[in-house]
Amino acid sequence: MDRSNHEHWEQLAALHGIGTDRYYDLDRLIAGGTLMGTEEAAALRRATFDAGVVGLEVMHLQCHIGCDAITMARSGARVTGVDFSATALARLRDLAQRCGVDVATIEADSRDLPHDLDGRFDLVYATIGVLCWIDDLDAWMGGVARVLRPGGRLVLVELHPLLLMVGSVDPLVVDSPYAFDGAHIYSGTGSYANRDADVAWTVSEYAHGLAEVVMAAERSGLRTTHLQEHTDMSFDPRGMGGGIEPDGRFRLRLGRGSSDLTSTAPPPPMPILFTLIVERT
Ligand SMILES: C[S@@+](CC[C@H](N)C(=O)[O-])C[C@H]1O[C@@H](n2cnc3c(N)ncnc32)[C@H](O)[C@@H]1O
Repeated sequence: MDRSNHEHWEQLAALHGIGTDRYYDLDRLIAGGTLMGTEEAAALRRATFDAGVVGLEVMHLQCHIGCDAITMARSGARVTGVDFSATALARLRDLAQRCGVDVATIEADSRDLPHDLDGRFDLVYATIGVLCWIDDLDAWMGGVARVLRPGGRLVLVELHPLLLMVGSVDPLVVDSPYAFDGAHIYSGTGSYANRDADVAWTVSEYAHGLAEVVMAAERSGLRTTHLQEHTDMSFDPRGMGGGIEPDGRFRLRLGRGSSDLTSTAPPPPMPILFTLIVERT
């Protein structure tokens, strides 16, 4: 396990959803609302042929404090939250109790899922900010394939590798590669959910191109049933600022929209998110 990444997530798990953090608006969740994004909800509908998750065994992989685990449990799924952060899982258990739902938790590294989970799940749900922590995509996909029943599906809604290349929009900084080239060490303060949070960190992150993700799934015996790239989403996932447009959607537009310097045409939006649904054959 990468100790600095683990320590980072232990710290964030302790502070997310506390105080003025509206990214993890736990009051809304406890009051019966959902924090699930429209893209994740759409992916779940698609993966279940509109039947929803009722009655399904669902693993929320790298669940963090498990807001979507609670939403899926409320919708009638039997949910197991899996994360390597004990603090995150303790927060999830507390949250589930306050929300009046049952959610099981398992502390595990997502690259080495316990073998007693093999073949148990109808769905593995993993979203937004999971793969950048993973050095070995084959180990991650292989574990997912193992824990799914035949016919079971992975619902992966993840930040697009093009978005992850961009460190800052203004000034434009492109400081990360598109595809895997080993560990990149970053240091900083605060959190994506609370810029002012009193934490300092150094982490290792890994780039994975879209083709690398799909091919890792294929190598693990997971057949692609749906792949979609999104150019808008319901929130600004990295707090890049400035990208929320009048329709309330976040878009990433870089540079000029025309080589004609007198034109004020906005540039077309870049891909910022993808949905991948794969099925265990
Ligand atoms: C950005 S968060 C995921 C956020 C989640 N989508 C949500 O709804 O809050 C990433 C999560 O991955 C977990 N994580 C990172 N590396 C991991 C690993 N190797 N094994 C298990 N969990 C890991 C972290 O503890 C953290 O909870």
